[in-house]
Amino acid sequence: MPRILTGIQSTGTPHLGNILGAILPGIKLSNNTRNESLFFIADLHSLTQIKNSEQVRRNTFSVAAAWIALGFDYKNGYLYKQSDIPEVCELTWYLSCFTPYPMLANAHSFKDKSDRLHEVNTGLFVYPVLMASDILLYDADIVPIGKDQKQHLEITRDVALTFNRIYGDTFVVPQASFSENVMAVPGTDGQKMSKSYNNYIDIFEDEKAMKKRVMSIVTDSKGVAEPKDPDQCIVFKLYSLVADKNNTEELRKKYFAGNFGYGSAKNELFGLLLEKFRNERKNFNELMSDTGMIEKILKEGAMKVRNFATAVLQRVRGKLGYG
Ligand code: ADP
Ligand code: TRP
Repeated sequence: MPRILTGIQSTGTPHLGNILGAILPGIKLSNNTRNESLFFIADLHSLTQIKNSEQVRRNTFSVAAAWIALGFDYKNGYLYKQSDIPEVCELTWYLSCFTPYPMLANAHSFKDKSDRLHEVNTGLFVYPVLMASDILLYDADIVPIGKDQKQHLEITRDVALTFNRIYGDTFVVPQASFSENVMAVPGTDGQKMSKSYNNYIDIFEDEKAMKKRVMSIVTDSKGVAEPKDPDQCIVFKLYSLVADKNNTEELRKKYFAGNFGYGSAKNELFGLLLEKFRNERKNFNELMSDTGMIEKILKEGAMKVRNFATAVLQRVRGKLGYG
């Protein structure tokens, strides 16, 4: 049974980019009954950025709630938080001894900040090794991720192959799974949608705040009457990623025809998001009003996956001569 595994940091409520790029493709894979799914909240990773326990706890709940609200069947899969499985830290040490220093120095997550090294903590530097441990600790076969995580998966594979070459078959070498048409969901300013650029759309926010975000999407300065190119427009791009084909074609025609302003396009996008995610928004809010329930789900998930983790770790310790 192929094992699907993916994680999301507890750095905030997942936004539309996270949802389309990673969460929904992951849930789709998990709905295939031939797959076994492990989804977790990477709260140890988020410590590289957030030093506020209350915030981390709240974000952990909101990531879990988003996953469940968007349809992850946690009863048939496993939902847990990374910090409940301390074995991952032990494996991180072992793997770090098989990870060439230059490979980490070249990782985008670190390199992007190399001009501000005083702001970089060592945790951020070894971030990809912790991620490799997240994956290898559970013998994962397939890892659904957004394109920006591709390099981390390559590092994971590299480290697993190196270890296997020295000690014989130990780790399952995982494969990334990308959702081709949503490789990089644009944010309101046209850059990749990201929490760190503050250009995201949060579909779980209240209507007023969400509308404000949608209305702030950057467009060119064409007047209402002028025909417009849908393929150059972020509003259209976001609409097409969420809507079905027919509605997308309808909107495309309106762009070409003219007498259709960007304000109207934004209203259509806003209406679509509300309609498309109506149930998910309701479920999310219900879950967030009962965080005790989320806590229980996460604890149960951790109890189960810990068995996988201890078995793999025992295998690794044995190979290393610590068994
Ligand atoms: P952020 O950039 O907002 O901090 P994360 O790095 O926490 O997002 O990403 C969580 C998951 O969502 C990853 O698998 C990532 O590849 C995916 N993802 C993030 N932003 C986007 C985006 N704009 N388009 C597609 N996928 C994305
Ligand atoms: N680094 C991932 C991100 O920022 C989160 C993550 C941590 C992850 N461990 C993982 C994703 C293991 C997939 C598998 O999005």
